[in-house]
Amino acid sequence: MSNIIEIQGLNYTYLPGSPYEHRALRDISLSLGRGEFLGVFGPNSSGKSTLAKHLNGLVYPTSGTVRVCGIDTSVKEQRTGLWKKVGLVFQYPEQQIFEASVYDEVSYGPRNLGLDESEIRDRVHDALEKVGLAPDPTSLLSPINLSGGIRRRVAIAGILALHPEIMVLDEPMAGLDPRGRRLVLDIINRRRENRNETTVMISHNLKEILALADKIAILDRGALVFFGGVGELQADSKLLARFRFELPDYLQVVQALADRGIKVDTGIKDMNEAGSELIRVLSERRQPQTPSP
Ligand SMILES: Nc1ncnc2c1ncn2[C@@H]1O[C@H](COP(=O)(O)OP(=O)(O)OP(=O)(O)O)[C@@H](O)[C@H]1O
Ligand SMILES: [Mg+2]
Repeated sequence: MSNIIEIQGLNYTYLPGSPYEHRALRDISLSLGRGEFLGVFGPNSSGKSTLAKHLNGLVYPTSGTVRVCGIDTSVKEQRTGLWKKVGLVFQYPEQQIFEASVYDEVSYGPRNLGLDESEIRDRVHDALEKVGLAPDPTSLLSPINLSGGIRRRVAIAGILALHPEIMVLDEPMAGLDPRGRRLVLDIINRRRENRNETTVMISHNLKEILALADKIAILDRGALVFFGGVGELQADSKLLARFRFELPDYLQVVQALADRGIKVDTGIKDMNEAGSELIRVLSERRQPQTPSP
C-alpha cells in the first residue's frame, strides 16, 4: 500500500524576496505508512513547526512535493480539503482557539464537516472526556479564562472531534501537568493500537519520542539529519552525542552488548522489553554448544 505521507525534496522559504527571507526547510525527503507513528525532534528553530504545517496544507512547498493522504499540497483545489483528514494541534493553543465557549470550540470542526447536531454533540462529549474534561459544565466556559494546560487540552479535543486520519501534535506535552501528560499519552497510545490512525508528534524531548515512535526524523537548521527506525537511531552513537543525548541506562547496556558483537535486539522501547531481551540472550548463551564433528 502507498504511503500516507510522502515528502520529496521539500524546500520552504519564509517571506522570499524580502529582507526577512528565511530558508526554514532544506531538501527534506521522508515517508510514513498508514498507522505509523512519526516522532520529529530537533533543537529550537530547526523547522519542526514549519514541517508540521506542511502536513495539513497550511503552508506548501517553495519547491519539492508534499503528498498527504494522496493529496498534493501544491495544488490549491486539493489542499483546501486536507483539514478534514489531517488535524494539527498547534504548538501554541492561543493560535488555535477562537470560539466563545469550550463547546463551540470543540464542535467547530465537526460542524464544518456538515455533521448533524446529535453526532456533533456525541463527538464533543467523547473528545472532552478523552482529554479529561467533564463535558458539563466545562462546555460552557470561555477558553480565554482557562489555564494554559487546560486550553491545550481543549485544542487537542477540537482536533480529536474531527476523527482525523492523521493527527499532528506540535509539542503537545508543553505546559501540561502530570495528569495532562498522562491523558495525552493515553490518546497517543490508543491511536498507536489502531493501525488505521497515523500520528506525528513533535517534541524537544528525544526520550519521549523514542518510547513511542516507529520512525524518527531529526531536523537541524532546516535539514533532515536523521530519518529512520528507533533501533537505527539508538545504534548511531555519533548522532546521539551530537545532540548531547544520553540513552537510558537499560538501552546503554543493550547497546554495549551489540557493540561487542552479541546478537541482541537494539529496537528496545522500554525497561520491560530490555529485561526480556537480556534474559533471552543469557539463556541462549547458556545452551550447551554442540561439539563440531
Ligand atoms: N512566519 C515566519 N516568518 C519568518 N520566519 C519564520 C516564520 N515562522 C518561523 N520562522 C523561522 O523559521 C525557522 C524555523 O521555525 P520553526 O518554528 O519551524 O522552528 P521549530 O523547530 O518549530 O522551533 P521551536 O523549537 O522554537 O518551536 C526559525 O528560524 C524561525 O525564526
Ligand atoms: Mg515549533
